[in-house]
Amino acid sequence: MEKQKPTDDVYQMLSESGYSDRAIQYFQKVENIGVIEAADQTWDLTGPCGDTMKISMNIEDNRISDAKIQVLGCPGAVASGCAVVDLAKGKTLEEAKNIDLEALYKELEKMPDQKIHCARLAIKTLHKALEQYQEKTVEIQERGQR
Ligand code: FES
Repeated sequence: MEKQKPTDDVYQMLSESGYSDRAIQYFQKVENIGVIEAADQTWDLTGPCGDTMKISMNIEDNRISDAKIQVLGCPGAVASGCAVVDLAKGKTLEEAKNIDLEALYKELEKMPDQKIHCARLAIKTLHKALEQYQEKTVEIQERGQR
């Protein structure tokens, strides 16, 4: 990710609230935001705070070839969602399952303490999507064997 430092008001506000430059860059990473049309897997999840994330991904040869996220939520949710998408892209399904809160926090470097549940929601959304994809795949295989 490029290291340019945004200098706008949003940057100032987020920086003063305890977001690292890297987390702010993720917050502003618009190319990770959106929905992939006719994706191989989509999943949405609403956290206890009411914020919602929807992840969509394409999977080729057991590997996440593309992913995007749509977020109705706070800056912590947007930054976490965009970082999760970057971490997941190019990973095998097994590797993506192992992306955890620690890995996400390492990627984001720093967010305000009260934003940990936003990162947790991003991880849960990814894991749920992967779980459902695998269940779907097993079902299709079992149907094919009958
Ligand atoms: Fe709900 Fe951030 S406040 S995900």
